[in-house]
Amino acid sequence: MTMDARRRHFLKAAGASAVTGALSFAPWSNMTALAATTTFTPDVEIELAALPDELQLLPGAPTAVWRYVGRVLKGPADAVQSLPNSYAGPILRLRTGQKVRIRFKNQIRQPSIVHWHGLIVPEQADGHPRHAVPSGGEYVYEFEVRNRAGSYWFHPHPHGDTGTQVYGGLAGLFLVSDDEERAARLPEGERDISIVLADRTFDRSNQLVYESAMGGGMMGGMTGFFGERILANGRPSLSFPSAAGAYRVRLLNGSNSRIYRIARSDRKPLVAIASDGGLLAAPVTKPFLVLGPAERAELWIDFYDASSGSKIALVAEPLDFGGAGMGMMGGMMGRGTRTQTAAPSSFAQFTVGHGAGRQKLPERLATLAPAQIPPGTQRREFALTQGHMRWGINNRTFQMEEVAPDERIRFGDTEVWEFSNRNSMMPMPHPMHIHGVQFRVIERIGTPPDLQGMQAGYLDGGVKDTVLVQPGERVRVLLSFKDYRGLFLYHCHNLVHEDMGMMRNYRVA
Ligand code: C2O
Ligand code: CU
Ligand code: CU
Repeated sequence: MTMDARRRHFLKAAGASAVTGALSFAPWSNMTALAATTTFTPDVEIELAALPDELQLLPGAPTAVWRYVGRVLKGPADAVQSLPNSYAGPILRLRTGQKVRIRFKNQIRQPSIVHWHGLIVPEQADGHPRHAVPSGGEYVYEFEVRNRAGSYWFHPHPHGDTGTQVYGGLAGLFLVSDDEERAARLPEGERDISIVLADRTFDRSNQLVYESAMGGGMMGGMTGFFGERILANGRPSLSFPSAAGAYRVRLLNGSNSRIYRIARSDRKPLVAIASDGGLLAAPVTKPFLVLGPAERAELWIDFYDASSGSKIALVAEPLDFGGAGMGMMGGMMGRGTRTQTAAPSSFAQFTVGHGAGRQKLPERLATLAPAQIPPGTQRREFALTQGHMRWGINNRTFQMEEVAPDERIRFGDTEVWEFSNRNSMMPMPHPMHIHGVQFRVIERIGTPPDLQGMQAGYLDGGVKDTVLVQPGERVRVLLSFKDYRGLFLYHCHNLVHEDMGMMRNYRVA
């Protein structure tokens, strides 16, 4: 199928959203929104194109996708690592303190812009939808990597079409390393594995279908998109023959809406070593992990006590509504009913081998003080609200440049933000994400008893940029606006919710 034909299919599948989304970009688009400056000397320069492609993902016909293709223009060759025959990626690898220039070339037929999720960058480099460039356009990013070591990621952020473009294949990991991480002596090289989990639905000719998002009726629009198959780096599963010693497994939930519970097939506990914003203070043992859209976790996995030849998998079990029912439909089907099912996926399969000995799990990983709220800290509440078949925040929806009085922040301040997920006719989890900062989760209040069991799977003790707010909950996070002034976003990372406007600006001045 040609790209044009595929695109028609895709647009049809996406319903009205792609069309209205494209029209709404026009006033903010320029051919080249930002040119490279002469005062900035990058250590690393990368070209990153978003383009249409076809890949053999399933047996039979190839699948038309969009994907990012990167190359290093200046700096170490391993700054860009492509994943063979996968739409996921490429993986970008940078170090804290490096100055990077990224030339984004938009070669898909929709306006687009790239956001570096979790990275703390100036507003001009944050990929705000007002900076979207049209098809054929280019955007130049220049920033210094300020974050600590961790597994960050990047994806498109045009208003109204983020879900469509991420679903089409545009997402990659942005891995940052630093001296503290190096001192922790974690597994490296082929023992450092990155896995992007995402759910997709394919039609009979192996083409992607995104119909539930806007075109799937009112319930589909309000709940999100739930694909029929869970993929790992765009493949049905990944295998690691002859695994021995220890692995560092980085996981990103790159799904538009779906939440996963992740566990080991042999039911041994998981050892988590990092959350969204990098290493935990020390490894923590978990019966399972719960990862909402955009959340990351890193695991330490070893097989020293498993017998050679045995097979052990990491399994992702879909939790469509975070285990919660969905209001009136919940009454009919019961809480926890999976209304849009996908089978659990053994997405990473290890065959235990002989060889490399056991690598000792470090007792301490990083310096991470317990989160403490300074006296006099400003508090804000953001209610997650339901309007007329539309989600909002404090009863507002996204307007390109709008900032309300309660969204103005003083530069340098530390605040507590409370996301309150109550009073909704349709109880749903919302994975809330804030640009421009990393935060600490302070407390969860009002978690319903039937959702309390899931808390064992959260990495709330770590550094975070996205937090799952369950129905009935109020979640408080601590954050400081000390890096850059400017206009930044906060939003629900269920991309169907985000695209319908469950997103707002805040301004630091
Ligand atoms: Cu990962 Cu504003 O997004
Ligand atoms: Cu972000
Ligand atoms: Cu939401």
